[in-house]
Amino acid sequence: MHHRIVRQNLLVLCLFLSYNGVQGKKELSELEDMELQKQLKLLNKPAIKTVKTRYGDTYDCVDFYKQHAFDHPLLKNHNFHPKMKPTFAEIKQNSYGSTTNRLPKIWSKDGGCPSGTVPVKRITKDDLIRQRDLPPPEPANFDNESKNNNSEQKASSMPSNGYKRAIVRTPKELTTKFTGAGMATSLYNPHVEGKQISACRIRIENGSEILQVGWRVDPTLYGDNLARLFIHRQVGETQCFNTLCPGFVQVNTDLPIESSFEHISQRGVKAWEIVMYIYKDQAYGHWWLLLGDKYESVGYWPNNIFVELAQFATKIEWGGSVYSPPGVPEPPMGSSYLPIGNSTFDAYCRC
Ligand SMILES: *[C@@H]1O[C@H](CO)[C@@H](O)[C@H](O)[C@H]1NC(C)=O
Ligand SMILES: *[C@@H]1O[C@H](CO)[C@@H](O)[C@H](O)[C@H]1NC(C)=O
Ligand SMILES: *[C@@H]1O[C@H](CO)[C@@H](O)[C@H](O)[C@H]1NC(C)=O
Ligand SMILES: *[C@@H]1O[C@H](CO)[C@@H](O)[C@H](O)[C@H]1NC(C)=O
Repeated sequence: MHHRIVRQNLLVLCLFLSYNGVQGKKELSELEDMELQKQLKLLNKPAIKTVKTRYGDTYDCVDFYKQHAFDHPLLKNHNFHPKMKPTFAEIKQNSYGSTTNRLPKIWSKDGGCPSGTVPVKRITKDDLIRQRDLPPPEPANFDNESKNNNSEQKASSMPSNGYKRAIVRTPKELTTKFTGAGMATSLYNPHVEGKQISACRIRIENGSEILQVGWRVDPTLYGDNLARLFIHRQVGETQCFNTLCPGFVQVNTDLPIESSFEHISQRGVKAWEIVMYIYKDQAYGHWWLLLGDKYESVGYWPNNIFVELAQFATKIEWGGSVYSPPGVPEPPMGSSYLPIGNSTFDAYCRC
């Protein structure tokens, strides 16, 4: 199965051609500018401390209770607190051979965020302007699912709406209820330009509600060409990323989202990987985001913001996804090379 993902992954790469993205700069009217300032004021909460990461990102340490998560209309009267911890049934874990990345606690000397606060990447006006051009989300029902009726997990790479995936997923006809999923993914920094995107992620879903965690190179979202940690929530055609999404409650003072990574795999030299999970807490039903083989909690999506995912997930998907706008070639996926059957050389995502 693992083999198949890699193979699919790299099929995609054969189509890679270089693309010089042209990003137009638009003039803002005064009204638009005022609107953006207003949005920024709502999104950027007062900072108790500001920290700069080794890579030059600015994070504000925001009071736990003031984080944007709680702007979600269903979380106004929450009784959450910063010390909340998930309880799980035993998480089934495979042992992974290669080198696990140190978790992206990337603070420079000043020690990160104080207790009772959470790190939130500062949002700029440029971020908001760029993100107006984010493409619509991946279609939920992606390829022609009736085409292949074998009931095993299967990989697919049929293009749709500018997206192309190389994934495995739980069989469609399976009625298992899933309480979570995890993956170990090798980290690469595929070359992406303009509005292209190259990502690797887990998706858990029931019907139109979908949660994702993974890494992505996405200049439209992030304004740079680095592989960064992302989370994503989708309900039908409505989507949002990272802390711009009200509803994701951060608890960890040290583990930010949107971070870049200390080590990126060098093909043929060393594969660096990171382990990610989305798991449902048994006591409260919140969906937790956990990182690393010690399951460090980053935060959670509270149970009461969901309808279809309020209980369990019905479908899980693992793997790579690339996007390019119409007329633009697909960016490479993973390591950008055809697999040779050696994990020091091949990009992978395993579950
Ligand atoms: C899906 O596959 C079936 C059977 O091969 C075909 O009849 C149908 O037209 C396909 N649908 C789409 C949307 O491609
Ligand atoms: C579906 O599966 C059955 C039984 O395995 C097989 O006979 C049939 O040819 C398959 N149909 C398609 C479209 O693959
Ligand atoms: C998925 O969502 C539907 C609609 O809300 C719900 O009836 C069903 O129980 C959910 N499935 C699971 C496994 O939670
Ligand atoms: C994979 O490649 C590395 C680096 O060249 C090499 O040391 C290792 O023996 C290879 N492993 C296999 C199974 O071929």
